[in-house]
Amino acid sequence: MKGKFIVIEGIDGCGKTTQIDEISKWLPTSGLMGGDSKLIKTREPGGSLLGKKLRNLILDNNKNNKPSSLAELLLYSADRAEHVSKIISPALEKEDWVISDRYADSTLAYQGYGRNINLEIIRSLESIVCQGEQPDLTIFLEISAEESILRRKNFIPDRIESEGINFLKKVNEGFKLIAKEKNWKVISATQNVNAITNEIKETLLKNFS
Ligand code: TYD
Repeated sequence: MKGKFIVIEGIDGCGKTTQIDEISKWLPTSGLMGGDSKLIKTREPGGSLLGKKLRNLILDNNKNNKPSSLAELLLYSADRAEHVSKIISPALEKEDWVISDRYADSTLAYQGYGRNINLEIIRSLESIVCQGEQPDLTIFLEISAEESILRRKNFIPDRIESEGINFLKKVNEGFKLIAKEKNWKVISATQNVNAITNEIKETLLKNFS
């Protein structure tokens, strides 16, 4: 028996972090996890120690440090390879549960649909990087690109967030296509925070009871 691997996806500002914090408080008390299982809350980029360093490099706003699209793809992939090897796989092997803020489909959406890197290249890279670890459940928190920008207007954007609305629209369309193709649970993230949390809880109960 392995633990369960849950991923939350969505464009910037969709509220993933808030929801993951809420769900992480509830999940260990929900009765879904086995008695000895722990919950590992993690994220990409930056879930591992090396990943934290990579995150700073990847999201650096200094224009002189902007990577090429290919280098960007490989940096996110390096972060993920390390994340799988050091955090995700060991946890699942111990029957712990993992909830991750983003995983491989963020690369398909941002670098594939957003940056127009060939999707087949990304998929074949993914098959090496993920080392067989696929989510048991992916939840997509859906907001529009316009809403994403509105919600973040008082925050300093990181390098990817600075790309603007057209980039974000392409990424969001990508996420919607992937969600359909992979039969993800799609939740409208324009509802109030509690309603979204409740919908996520219901989904977890339905999938893992
Ligand atoms: P994230 O940590 O979700 O942003 P924050 O916590 O700062 O709101 O992700 C950082 C950025 O990295 C985000 O704009 C999406 C981007 N990203 C990619 O472009 N490709 C990827 O594979 C991943 C995991 C993230």
